[in-house]
Amino acid sequence: VTYVGRAVTPVDGLTAIAPRLRETFLRHRYDADGVLDLLGPDVHAALGRGEPVPVRRACRDVGELGTLVRLLLVHDTVDRAAVDGALGSLDVDEAIGAGLLADDGDGVRAAVDVRPLDAGHGTRWMVSDLDGSMRPVDIAPDHVLGVGHASLSLLRATVPAHGSVLDVGTGCGVQAVHALESADHVTATDITDRSLAMTRATMVLNAIGDDRVDLVRGPWFAPVEGRRFDRLVANPPFVVGPPTVTHSYRDSGLDLDGASEVMVSGAADHLVDGGIACMLASWVITGDDWRDRVASWVPDHGVDAWVVQRDVADPALYVGTWLRDAGYDPRTGRGAALADEWLDHLDRSGVHGIGFGFVFLRTTGSPTDLLAEELSHALDDPLGDEALAYLHRVAWLRDHDVLAARLAAAPDVALDRVWTPSVSPGTEPWVEVATRLVRTGGPRWSHDVDDRVAALVAGLRHDGLPVADVVELLGAARGEEIDPASVGDVIAGLVRHGVLVPA
Ligand SMILES: C[S@@+](CC[C@H](N)C(=O)[O-])C[C@H]1O[C@@H](n2cnc3c(N)ncnc32)[C@H](O)[C@@H]1O
Repeated sequence: VTYVGRAVTPVDGLTAIAPRLRETFLRHRYDADGVLDLLGPDVHAALGRGEPVPVRRACRDVGELGTLVRLLLVHDTVDRAAVDGALGSLDVDEAIGAGLLADDGDGVRAAVDVRPLDAGHGTRWMVSDLDGSMRPVDIAPDHVLGVGHASLSLLRATVPAHGSVLDVGTGCGVQAVHALESADHVTATDITDRSLAMTRATMVLNAIGDDRVDLVRGPWFAPVEGRRFDRLVANPPFVVGPPTVTHSYRDSGLDLDGASEVMVSGAADHLVDGGIACMLASWVITGDDWRDRVASWVPDHGVDAWVVQRDVADPALYVGTWLRDAGYDPRTGRGAALADEWLDHLDRSGVHGIGFGFVFLRTTGSPTDLLAEELSHALDDPLGDEALAYLHRVAWLRDHDVLAARLAAAPDVALDRVWTPSVSPGTEPWVEVATRLVRTGGPRWSHDVDDRVAALVAGLRHDGLPVADVVELLGAARGEEIDPASVGDVIAGLVRHGVLVPA
């Protein structure tokens, strides 16, 4: 595959003006809080929905911050003199030459998107291509993706990094910038010069020194051959389709889910012992069990792997969504033709669904432990915390015999009993149909259990007896013999999901 970029405007000059742009942003409070204060929550929400008019109205006569918001967030054509005033020491012509702005007849407009983002650590400014949310744009083949839902979901799912981080397919640098909250150094790769130029500008805008970042061009792991990192993070071009590239931000040039396969199968070779990879991935579903495919990519030895399927789309929904994402109209012309080719390809490949989610891997040197499971409900808590806790729990399970351990229910666990009305005359009016141990926090895992296990969990204490002894006492109390080994797997499953916690 040849990746041929067709940049709309050159952006190499952005890095040179980034320090002065940063000063301007700081002076006029063009940061996440400043913009929210200016617009208020309702108009800010309208901005998020791609509705420029309420934002424009809120920016009337409010000085430099309003000008910056109209220019950089609404993507309006703005009067040159007003922009000159707002840019401070940066001259408008210099900003045009650097690729920040473009001449637009009566005024100037943004040539790229520069926006503040607060993902929980204060403002970071991100440079990316204009996405068409505010005014129509062509999505170029080397379009640099801004911070979207997928980027944010990966940010929330990433285990905090220490030491060195590898960010494969850095795009605008959103994962790399945030990894540097806790990591010492990031190596960020991409196949397009435009992405690397924007990430470089993003780094300078956020006052991140050159000594903390390496930006390297090249596909997959080629730029880091033979190197290992403490963390790996990747939101790769995972879109499932024919082996062609129309847009580098989403197409890998590999057939179907080849991009995810390359990342999942190769990640462990680029992690130090105990290193963790957090990746977005997708997988085609061709057989009865979606887990088979992704499981086949995980090395047989040496990793703990947690695969979390967040969503499944049927081919029609999938193709329509991704065509619209790249600005095609799936109803007519080129859009309709592409939809036909794409659906044909999925059909020929026997794909009846496309799964999407996260893959977490930790290198261990032990036989691989793999769990692939669905988590399709909305999540409030960041998945990154849970992923780290999950990997710790798996490591604990490898080293301990649950029957000999002292365990207790986690503080967020509730026992949920489900009753339905009885249909048999002369019986109790309600019949219990399910008993569940539910974690009310984190991913809210729920395990159906029988009465025996519910009673056993109630009897476990950190300062009490080991599990096997409590099982014996429970058997005596119920007048039945319970073989501790018969509950071992259930107990291990509860530990794995954090329902039971070791002392
Ligand atoms: C979905 S975007 C992710 C951007 C960013 N990391 C984020 O989280 O929003 C995928 C990125 O991977 C890059 N890319 C495409 N093919 C690649 C390859 N073979 N190796 C490395 N990066 C690639 C694209 O240029 C694009 O910037």
